[in-house]
Amino acid sequence: MNANATNSESVKDLNVQAEQVMRLNDKGGYTVPTEGLYPYQWNWDSAFAAMGFAQFDVARGWKELETLFSGQWENGMVPHILFHTDDDRYFPGPDVWQGTGPIPSSGITQPPVAATMARIIHELDPEAGREHMEGLFDAMVRWHDWFMKWRLDNQAVCTTHPWETGRDNAPDWDGAMAQIDPVDVGSYTRRDLSHVDSAMRPKPYDYDRYIWILKRGRSYGWDDAAMLENTRFRVADPTMTFTLLRAQRDLAVLGRALGRDVSGIEAQIKVLEAGAETLWNPAIKGYDSRDVLTGEWAGSLSNASFLAWYAGIDNAELLESYRRVMSLVEYGVPSFDPADEKFDAKRYWRGPTWGMMNMLIGTGLDEMGHAEGEALRALTAELIQAHGFSEYFDPTDGSPAGGKTFTWTAAIWLGWASPDRSAS
Ligand code: SER
Repeated sequence: MNANATNSESVKDLNVQAEQVMRLNDKGGYTVPTEGLYPYQWNWDSAFAAMGFAQFDVARGWKELETLFSGQWENGMVPHILFHTDDDRYFPGPDVWQGTGPIPSSGITQPPVAATMARIIHELDPEAGREHMEGLFDAMVRWHDWFMKWRLDNQAVCTTHPWETGRDNAPDWDGAMAQIDPVDVGSYTRRDLSHVDSAMRPKPYDYDRYIWILKRGRSYGWDDAAMLENTRFRVADPTMTFTLLRAQRDLAVLGRALGRDVSGIEAQIKVLEAGAETLWNPAIKGYDSRDVLTGEWAGSLSNASFLAWYAGIDNAELLESYRRVMSLVEYGVPSFDPADEKFDAKRYWRGPTWGMMNMLIGTGLDEMGHAEGEALRALTAELIQAHGFSEYFDPTDGSPAGGKTFTWTAAIWLGWASPDRSAS
């Protein structure tokens, strides 16, 4: 048998395995990121899951998004975790968060990629998609409006908790976290460390601050105005800014397909385009995070910095930075600059490569006409073929890290990385 035939068999095997991972994590209407470590519905994980399901079951893809938006709060916010059940394998659970929405939830949101994934699903079958988008469109507009109303600083989008960006322990937050003294955080038991090696997870220093910020938001009843006035953590960041900018563009496309007036969204796109440029830090030749409370740059060249293309922004200097960073590791895109002394190859968002970030970065590069986009897709396929559907990967040697049988890694295999998919 020649090598190509073996390879195409392994691709087919992986297509089957990816579907199996999705079904394993399917709880009926929503999908958990992985059993044990994350036993609830997470916001952006779920959006990737929707896109992954839609590759073999379009209706199930729409269902995932509809379940996610059933947890939308009255103010428009869509929470980062929906606690559809009780599960003591995770901390902090619904009793700690005390979210105020229609379903027990956390009190913060996550990067808004749902409209982007909805557009992908819609394109797979526009006729079937119309009815679902009719139901989801206004809810998506309300979520995006909530960001525009409560989360802008200098037109860039801010985060109020590291968990909100999904990039929990990224060096982006180091400066802002150092300003917090987690006094009276109380005692608590982490559950994540019973599922994953502590060397791959955030440190106790970070957790104390995560819980402290959470309790502060809860003490204000998650009221947006009160939290804004009394905030102790507010960082304008490339993850939130670029994902919202891209999501607005995709929502405008979907709105036009439905015959809706999208002039409001178009105006918001202009605001976000201006905001994105305020995140450019020449010192790192990249888009950076800015602590709104101190005005300080984080000085963090991360994989979120490379979401610019996906947001529709090209930048020659950023491409140079991307090439430099990729030349330093075997399997990028590393979540943090490997040349920086804070780089930590296995510790979550301080070094590891994340498949779903690669999908967003690669898609953007490709759309901008940069050959690096297709190269990144092929590299990500190679990584998954060699190391499976792990949560993240050590960029120096590709070794799997974090949770196993991970939904979004399976989803991006099916919808983007798999050579079968890219050939279609
Ligand atoms: N990523 C966080 C955790 O590890 C929550 O979103 O629990």
